[in-house]
Amino acid sequence: MQSTRRISLIILLSIGCAAQAPQAKRELDVPYVPTEEAVVAEMLKTAGVKKGDVLYDLGCGDGRIVITAAKEFGVRGVGIDIDPVRIKEARANAEKAGVAGLVKFIEQDLFDARIGEATVVTLYLLPQINLKLRPKLFRELKPGTRIVSHAFDMGDWKPEKQLDVSGETIYYWVIPKP
Ligand SMILES: C[S@@+](CC[C@H](N)C(=O)[O-])C[C@H]1O[C@@H](n2cnc3c(N)ncnc32)[C@H](O)[C@@H]1O
Repeated sequence: MQSTRRISLIILLSIGCAAQAPQAKRELDVPYVPTEEAVVAEMLKTAGVKKGDVLYDLGCGDGRIVITAAKEFGVRGVGIDIDPVRIKEARANAEKAGVAGLVKFIEQDLFDARIGEATVVTLYLLPQINLKLRPKLFRELKPGTRIVSHAFDMGDWKPEKQLDVSGETIYYWVIPKP
């Protein structure tokens, strides 16, 4: 991602945090900005999502990543979001898409979520939130778990893949063996 575009996105996302979601239990770490469908499709492709995976989206918004994965690949998914409005939307979207039996949406702070069963984790957060999350990912996820982030990297943890889609950057890592 071009650095000016990246900086603008960080500023916009950061400003949005304070203003949004009066119903959330605490201030959002990241405001709601949905990932466009073409980028969702590429994130799932990059992660190599396949039957048998369990996908977690931390900060799931309207549930589109979890729902698309369930629809396209028949995988089980869990979306975590601190904003009750997003969780209500995600549950309604899952019903509409006919995948309510495969997915679960939990209203929770992503830093408190139990994520150990995930085989794929998707993120669209902010650079400093990715960094804050990194120790939890290493602590709780099994070696081999794939992580895909829209727009933001993980500091000095170098991605195994990095690609651009519709002007957006996708990063991909795998949790290493200890
Ligand atoms: C940029 S949006 C991404 C939504 C979705 N993952 C997507 O890519 O379309 C970030 C989401 O994180 C949620 N969020 C922010 N802080 C959170 C926290 N501490 N715990 C859980 N969710 C959080 C927001 O409510 C918002 O829906």
